[in-house]
Amino acid sequence: MTGIELYEPLNQLKPIAADIWIADGPVVRMAAAFGTSMPFPTRMTIVRLRDGGLWCHSPIAPDEGLFAAIDALGPVRHLVSPNLLHYASIGAWKRRYPAAVAWAAPGVRQRAASQKIEVAFDADLADVAPPAWAADLDQLRFRGSRVIEEFVFFHRASATLVLADLIENFERGKISRGMHWLARLGGVLDPDGKAPLDMRMTFLGRKRLARACFAGIMAWRPQRVILAHGRCYKENAEAELRRAFRWVL
Ligand SMILES: [Fe+2]
Repeated sequence: MTGIELYEPLNQLKPIAADIWIADGPVVRMAAAFGTSMPFPTRMTIVRLRDGGLWCHSPIAPDEGLFAAIDALGPVRHLVSPNLLHYASIGAWKRRYPAAVAWAAPGVRQRAASQKIEVAFDADLADVAPPAWAADLDQLRFRGSRVIEEFVFFHRASATLVLADLIENFERGKISRGMHWLARLGGVLDPDGKAPLDMRMTFLGRKRLARACFAGIMAWRPQRVILAHGRCYKENAEAELRRAFRWVL
């Protein structure tokens, strides 16, 4: 019993557009507003780069079926932790694909060590996309938080924005009634999902930085948004982004 309805079927590739897929994963329990915790559904994004290699964002807890489906797409080259909370399964992927590069977000090494989760990162994400994926994906370091900086990515060919925690969007029908108030309090209840309250609070006094980053995201003109937790935005992406990020304006 997880207290949450997941995005079945799990651990299967679901196409979003040409060369981009998501896979919904099992539940994780994460800290929520005011010292509470909530079960979170998980979701990863896979992009096939123009060299055929696979770029995996926020890898979920895998199983053999998912690995087999991934193997049919191409070689796994990149495992990306977009922020210091989305890394827990990278070790499992690295064991299966030792040649893949595990990319670290700011603070993720310390976070993993503090949680006693072993992950060997190979490289650090930087302000601009590395040559390995710059032809297919833009990236931006979303600044302003004192605690958690998330890297956001934009798949140009499909105009898809990929986020981890900068928008969380829990659907009422998928969470228990007891969780509704917690999700609403945290500001992460669909149809008004956004960054959770505790995350937004870490931007206090530094929203100018966040505002500039948000402008950078909007300049990409995203047409859809993939989220790691909850309902994605397959249409009206720009309006949804303006709504979800109104706290930075
Ligand atoms: Fe998350």
